Amino acid sequence: MIRTIEWNGDAVVMLDQRRLPAEEVYVTCRDYREVAEAIRTMVIRGAPAIGVAAAMGVALGMRQADPSRLDEEFEEVCRTLAATRPTAVNLFWAIERMRRVYQSARGITLGNIQATLLETALKMWEEDIQVNQLIGWNGAELLASGMTVLTHCNAGALATAGYGTALGVVRAAVAAGKKIEVFADETRPFLQGARLTAWELMKDGIPVTIITDNMAGHFLKSGRIGCVIVGADRITANGDVANKIGTYSLAVLARENQVPFYVAAPISTIDLSLASGEEIPIEERPAEEVTHVFGVRIAPEGVAVRNPAFDVTPHRYVTAIITERGVARPPYAESLAQLAG
Ligand code: MRU
Repeated sequence: MIRTIEWNGDAVVMLDQRRLPAEEVYVTCRDYREVAEAIRTMVIRGAPAIGVAAAMGVALGMRQADPSRLDEEFEEVCRTLAATRPTAVNLFWAIERMRRVYQSARGITLGNIQATLLETALKMWEEDIQVNQLIGWNGAELLASGMTVLTHCNAGALATAGYGTALGVVRAAVAAGKKIEVFADETRPFLQGARLTAWELMKDGIPVTIITDNMAGHFLKSGRIGCVIVGADRITANGDVANKIGTYSLAVLARENQVPFYVAAPISTIDLSLASGEEIPIEERPAEEVTHVFGVRIAPEGVAVRNPAFDVTPHRYVTAIITERGVARPPYAESLAQLAG
């Protein structure tokens, strides 16, 4: 199994996703600030993986906290980790879960608080893999043998503690004996599709073909694609879905061509506190990600750039949302409340 993130006994170790597929190197984060920096700079990325990293970051931070000002340090650790990436709700979900554990552990010895926090973070790592396997199991039923699945970004093992959400559905279908092929959008500007989705599917021997993002319409129209499956960074109460920039265009193209558009995500990605996608904060990333490719400038110096990392797909384009508790169908206001409430 791909080792996206691990606890090595006294530090958090992450596979450096900025350097894949050329190099398979690991980054060791020895304090919570290094964990926050790794999330911000996308050493680790993907909503569920970001959540697990943040939980481990909190546990690491509290192992090194000054015992005389524990509460203040806890808040400082949470604040630093929460300030890294605003869109993926799993980050805040994980921090909140750690906060509840910290608050209920107050009053026991410092050593026990630290042990409980670490135990919780490790449990979240383990649960994430189990949840993804259930998502895969639930989603596999939607795939027929011989189907080609189009995906965007990387919602695979690398985006989670393991197995993946969208790619978990593909893995489960393949494990059930179905013949499945994947088309992967390269996913400008960070190239998660070309670099990460292609790398992890090839490692598993699952047939994968890379296309550039602007080829998706052509292949959806050609009849070559059986369905689209993507992950999510946040799903609001009405079923609107924030995911990697370009997902919205794919959803519209899928609808135009009567191709089912599925979203695979854990319950922890559903944010019932927001009524619609308009309320989701969209991260804007540095211009250099657009103007440069691997350090080489491709756009004129001084040009204006926009780089929103995510877009919101309105729920009307979403055929179904695959979770570990079952498959939600429209109307999402009811089905999601039932699954996640
Ligand atoms: O910017 P990233 O690489 O963190 O964006 C990742 C995505 O958009 C994924 O599709 C999403 O987080 C789901 S991962 C299971």
